[in-house]
Amino acid sequence: MLQIYWGKKTALLFFVFASTFWLQAQEITSPDKNLSLKFELKDGGIPSYQLTYKQKPVIKPSSLGLELQNMNSFMDGFTVSNTAQSTFDENWYPVLGEEKTIRNHYNELVVTLAQPKNNNRFIRIRFRLFNDGLGFRYEFPKQNDLSYFVIKEERTEFQLAGNHKIFWIPGDYDTNEYAYTTSKISEIPSLMKKATIEINAQCPLKELSVQTPSMMKSDDGLYINIHEAGLINYPAMYLEVDAKTNKMMSHLAPDALGAKGYMQTDAQTPWRTIVVSDKATDILASKLILNLNEPTSYKDVSWIKPVKFIGIWWEYFVAGRSTWAFGKENNVKLTDDFTKLTPNGKHGATTERAKEYIDFASKNGFDAILIEGWNIGWEDWIGNWKEEVFDYVTPYPDFDVKAVHEYAASKGVKIIMHHETSGSATNYERRLDRAFEYMNDNGYDAVKTGYVGKIIPRGEHHDGQWMVNHYINVAKRAADYKIMIDSHEAVRPTGLNRTFPNWIAQESARGTEFESMGGLAPDHTTILPFTRLMGGPMDYTPGIFQTDLSYYGTGSTQRVNTTLVKQLAYYVTMYSPLQMAADIPGNYERFPDAFQFIKDVAVDWDNSYILEAEPGDYITIARKAKGKNEWFLGGITDENSRTANISFDYLPAGKSFIATIYADAKEANWKENPQKYTVTKFIVNSKTKLKQYLAPGGGVAISIKEANSSELKGLKKL
Ligand code: NOJ
Ligand code: CA
Repeated sequence: MLQIYWGKKTALLFFVFASTFWLQAQEITSPDKNLSLKFELKDGGIPSYQLTYKQKPVIKPSSLGLELQNMNSFMDGFTVSNTAQSTFDENWYPVLGEEKTIRNHYNELVVTLAQPKNNNRFIRIRFRLFNDGLGFRYEFPKQNDLSYFVIKEERTEFQLAGNHKIFWIPGDYDTNEYAYTTSKISEIPSLMKKATIEINAQCPLKELSVQTPSMMKSDDGLYINIHEAGLINYPAMYLEVDAKTNKMMSHLAPDALGAKGYMQTDAQTPWRTIVVSDKATDILASKLILNLNEPTSYKDVSWIKPVKFIGIWWEYFVAGRSTWAFGKENNVKLTDDFTKLTPNGKHGATTERAKEYIDFASKNGFDAILIEGWNIGWEDWIGNWKEEVFDYVTPYPDFDVKAVHEYAASKGVKIIMHHETSGSATNYERRLDRAFEYMNDNGYDAVKTGYVGKIIPRGEHHDGQWMVNHYINVAKRAADYKIMIDSHEAVRPTGLNRTFPNWIAQESARGTEFESMGGLAPDHTTILPFTRLMGGPMDYTPGIFQTDLSYYGTGSTQRVNTTLVKQLAYYVTMYSPLQMAADIPGNYERFPDAFQFIKDVAVDWDNSYILEAEPGDYITIARKAKGKNEWFLGGITDENSRTANISFDYLPAGKSFIATIYADAKEANWKENPQKYTVTKFIVNSKTKLKQYLAPGGGVAISIKEANSSELKGLKKL
């Protein structure tokens, strides 16, 4: 029998509407009424939804459902047994973030669907419609006829309204470290082969597919981003592409046996998200994915801090003067005596080198230094699909952990731990508690983890349910030890930094390291904020000043495909509360006036202002530092020069400020002349407008500070 469901009434959750009369078709609008979501059952009891934005179709009628292993599917034969609508409106305060306050405001529709032919087995589909888009998920409540089930495939469709422009990388169960291709949806089949031949391709899907976050633009100017939120105890989702009909379909990462999710009621899928606007800036400003994640349950978050750091790192990629490994040998076991190895003479993580970096960090106000290659195992860490590569607690003979920490502590600098697992998650899990105890004992409070190579348990994938649970388990366990996590090669983020705020950053995309391995296209970083960064902060490792790598005389002809100033702008355009100044200290010493921006820039913010943006072309963002009257602006362009239109209207009215402008020189160019720049100071106020030239492959960076009248003397108004 149909019944009316009266939603739970709390101070914040208001019951709005429920009805038995319009059960088969239900419609809700976003709080600002721009978006409209319609749910209905099609013939045969197939669930379907559609989404419009300002009367334009975003998702045309698309089916919803799941196929199960050895059980009747959740695809059809449904009747609607309940519907409920409600409104939610609340402010919350992220521990670290782009905004001090985030508003979580949506209208919700929950549809309960029963299957009479399967003993009235039932599921729910929960839709949340925000001003910036839609989130929905499947829920499997506890019930007599459903407790355990295995997913064969999720069958969520996204029927797009046209042959959109799309910024994409190939679907791959193990990596997101591809270069982007920009094309029409219809062109994906002919471009897929080229897009997939990359040094890092690991396990591309056989089916034609792309990764999420997937960024699209329609011919009539709608920006559409499809991803997921709250990926917990479930595999990551890819989008299979029907390039003829512009339809995308969910495809989940399989486990070693080909299954796609082991479920036990109560359970739910992650949220499927569609962020949409007619302004590209709104996509970057969207907090929908964070809002769909659960609030943190951590009681004390005072130990979670933003981190600006340097590291013994880039020299491994470019200078050729140092290595992670200590020994010359290339076949070692953890049980070997590493003090007996033959030194290769190039080991990077020595006590002495660490002290030099600590001095530099302390002199220039960095919070921490990352030291990679400190622990035994690097002689033989990759390619052999080996279970026991690292133990996480034994330093090389030339690295004195205690001495390094004492020295760092005396200078007020932290050391960031490095746990490369080389994909052996089983080995890492067994050793995790000891590894974290070792960190606590030695004063480390943050760790960069890494999952290079094929996963162990063998047959599992980086993006499968097993590994998804592994990363979360590591983050939760780390919280018990008050340790912050920066994961590399993990599944791409889905806003879980709201729930696990100590998981402060991730890589999960093609980062700066690739500038030393073939280079990144000049438009790469104008795309990343619209794709990978929609899910969460990225440890992109910016700040490379010496862009021509032949400088090191090691035979490299590689170059970083940006101007020096564009590298400065990244500290603002690539959001992360964990930011590295990735270049070698000596290179910063050669450009002290530009380095000043990196020293000054904040990494945690009260407010962010997306001033201009177009995926693939340019981005200009200003942000106010957390708790300080200081603002920083970053603007970047692709391979084309451009004039950025910069406003200052976010500054408090009626006051004067000093703006320090780091700009590409007229003759600068990412290819021939990347290191030509100017640093100038001007007086600005909330009414100032600036037209700023950006060189091809270039950028602009501005720091803005309050100033007293004596400091303003002699400066010109902009
Ligand atoms: C890949 C990571 O992205 C990089 O930052 C790290 O240095 C190496 N793996 C070694 O762990
Ligand atoms: Ca990587």
